[in-house]
Amino acid sequence: MKEASDDAEKREVLQNKKKAVLVDGVVLNGPTTDSKAGEKFVEEACRLIMEEVIRKAPDVTEKVCEWQPPEKLKELLDLEMRDTGEPHQRLLKLCRDVIRYSVKTNHPRFFNQLYAGIDYYSLVARFITEALNPSVYTYEVSPVFLLVEEAVLKKMIEFIGWKEGDGIFNPGGSVSNMYAVNLARYNYCPEIKEKGLSGLPRLVLFTSEECHYSMKKAASFLGIGTENVYFVETDGRGKMIPEELEEQVQRARKEGAAPFLVSATSGTTVLGAFDPLNEIADICAKYGLWLHVDASWGGSALMSRKHRKLLNGVQRANSVAWNPHKMLMAGIQCCAFLVKDKSDLLKRCYSAKASYLFQEDKFYDVSYDTGDKSIQCSRRPDAFKFWMTWKALGTEGLEERVNRALALARYLVEEIKKREGFRLLLDPEYTNVCFWYIPPSLRNMEEGPDFWEKLNLQVKFFPGTDDPKMILWPGRSLKTRGRRIVRS
Ligand SMILES: Cc1ncc(COP(=O)(O)O)c(C=O)c1O
Repeated sequence: MKEASDDAEKREVLQNKKKAVLVDGVVLNGPTTDSKAGEKFVEEACRLIMEEVIRKAPDVTEKVCEWQPPEKLKELLDLEMRDTGEPHQRLLKLCRDVIRYSVKTNHPRFFNQLYAGIDYYSLVARFITEALNPSVYTYEVSPVFLLVEEAVLKKMIEFIGWKEGDGIFNPGGSVSNMYAVNLARYNYCPEIKEKGLSGLPRLVLFTSEECHYSMKKAASFLGIGTENVYFVETDGRGKMIPEELEEQVQRARKEGAAPFLVSATSGTTVLGAFDPLNEIADICAKYGLWLHVDASWGGSALMSRKHRKLLNGVQRANSVAWNPHKMLMAGIQCCAFLVKDKSDLLKRCYSAKASYLFQEDKFYDVSYDTGDKSIQCSRRPDAFKFWMTWKALGTEGLEERVNRALALARYLVEEIKKREGFRLLLDPEYTNVCFWYIPPSLRNMEEGPDFWEKLNLQVKFFPGTDDPKMILWPGRSLKTRGRRIVRS
């Protein structure tokens, strides 16, 4: 249908030779897209999204996922891309299939990692930005979204407790952690920007055993080396032990290495532990180390007057990663990297001053051309999603969201305590509830290596274990009631 109407318009232009602009046999002033057909397609697709995704989102009787193994799914989805385009009805059928076989993360029983549920306001923000397709590098291209980002960063900075600061939205907590490692290193030796790694001492960073794996990735990606990530032991609750940190810093110094950064975690991925930030900040101050707080997961607690104490001391950090796309439910991806700084450190570290984009003599205040603080060129207006939600719910609504999540976790803990065969690993301080299911066949068995090994295997296959917080990942170790359990 589309090709037919395109052809008709092309013929029309060609017949009226005066109007046609032909280059290499291509009619330049002919239609490039059939906007009428395009609009109709969008309308029909939106109706489908409304019916199949949004209306069904809160319905517990719907499936979270119509699971198919990869080979079967390849057969069910028509994945082949052909030489000729396909008609709209066929495309709509494909859209329907994509929705059908995808995981419904909006479903009330979607229990995967660190996010769930539907936020209608952030969703509409996404629709708007997808329709406008902006890129947030310069004010002339994204005036509204740059001002929105500024407003959101300012508010997040306030919630951290800094008087002033800077920041940039970026594709996630992992990337924010990479920003932090690189910025801390730049702060330690600014000449690295021009001179590179050669001539530098062996740089060492410190983080806890329970940190997110992105710290290791950051070390390898940035040429620091994973062996130069010194993992500090945690206590039985998964919190970094400050005395161990200080010992490791001293060890690195004795080795002739150059310690430059401590990355504390507020809300560890598995246990939801919060490192003791004040004690860690004291050590950073004593040894002149940059303190980064990975609050990708736990940062949301800052919105709650009741629970923000979990991050006591966060205002002493030099930088913070905080993901509103986790508990606060702004759509993925939505993450801020925030820096306590008033000297334009971010820009000095990351700018490349591309003269085709960031001219200094524009007709407006070019400090709004914030794109040069970023490692990206094209960048999505992620702050807008969080801004819409914040506007819709207010700070009080966001606070309620956090309080509710923690209250639900509390409820689950009490239920686990009451039920036979369930054993809590520890009383959580956040929403991560870690527990073992002890199957009837093991309940009377003496607890020894054999028991734990069997339990591990049984946990692996037990059908109720599709909540990954219950599973220890391969090679992952956890202290449980004084024992260290390592899953092979
Ligand atoms: C503590 C922590 N840091 C960083 C990340 C990574 O965040 P993202 O998935 O946005 O890259 C996670 C994700 O679960 C996390 O739990």
